[in-house]
Amino acid sequence: MLRRHNYDLIPSSEITSESLYHERRAFMKLGASAALLGTSPLMAALGFEKSKSALELTSYDQITTYNNFYEYGTDKESPAKLAKNLKVRPWTLTVGGEVQKSLTLDIDSLIKKIPLEERIYRFRCVEGWAMVVPWVGFSLASLLKQAGLTSKSKYVEFETLFDPLQFPQQSKSFGNIPFPYREGLRIDEAMNPLTILAVGLYGKELLPQNGAPIRLVVPWKYGFKSIKSIVKITLSNHQTRSTWNQIAPNEYGFYANVNPSVDHPRWSQARERVLGKFFKQDTLAFNGYGNQVAHLYKNMDLRKFY
Ligand code: MTE
Repeated sequence: MLRRHNYDLIPSSEITSESLYHERRAFMKLGASAALLGTSPLMAALGFEKSKSALELTSYDQITTYNNFYEYGTDKESPAKLAKNLKVRPWTLTVGGEVQKSLTLDIDSLIKKIPLEERIYRFRCVEGWAMVVPWVGFSLASLLKQAGLTSKSKYVEFETLFDPLQFPQQSKSFGNIPFPYREGLRIDEAMNPLTILAVGLYGKELLPQNGAPIRLVVPWKYGFKSIKSIVKITLSNHQTRSTWNQIAPNEYGFYANVNPSVDHPRWSQARERVLGKFFKQDTLAFNGYGNQVAHLYKNMDLRKFY
């Protein structure tokens, strides 16, 4: 059974949008057809009850058709069109570097063993759009604990699959994005209970455009930190690479915490537009998760470490 955590700071009084309901019902109907869907833990997890949350969920359609996935191009529509055939099985994820024991994991065995939870999180892209997503996944900490940390496990680097046959932009040798896409976290950020590896959303397996079969979600940071289609996790004793930080360090910091008072050099971060909504709303410090994470940055100048 799936455990539920909303982690929103607004008092839970409202029920999430109707669409969640419909999605779940529709999927549960599908779930009856074992031949179609098999018996993966994601499917087993579908018995969960409706979540209570003041956050209004962004529709499944919006979440799966408006994407950033530069391996498929820079516009928002290409990923949904071009990612359909991404081969997500078999899929191997490795955890190595400064750990007690390196792991080589088959995605299905991993999902079978690790308890999945639903996490309803706000998600804020550095470009100024936002959404609310009911992710399905597990805490990154639970995986890192399996590998065992050491005194040298200070940063975590994540790497997306490198396969130019599947990701057309990776073969563009004159492009300015250094593939494979990489992202990093400090170890305390990685171990924070809010940080998850997602394998699904709306109770369904992730679609390729959203980073199937496994992607990072760090809800208090700009979306570019939430790296997709991960094959490799490497612990390190020094600060690791971050693709956007490498491309334009003055525009994209390593930390990339959502911060309404530190503007991007080319636009304000004070407001954001939720997908499907007409009016903008105020951006929240740490995307609304300050109670859980502000302490991680207590003695840091967030204008400098943006
Ligand atoms: N991961 C990879 N491998 N490649 C990318 O281009 N884009 C990032 C992030 N992860 C990206 C990535 C950015 S900029 C954002 S905003 C989010 O994915 C978007 O996630 P979504 O498409 O599921 O909304």
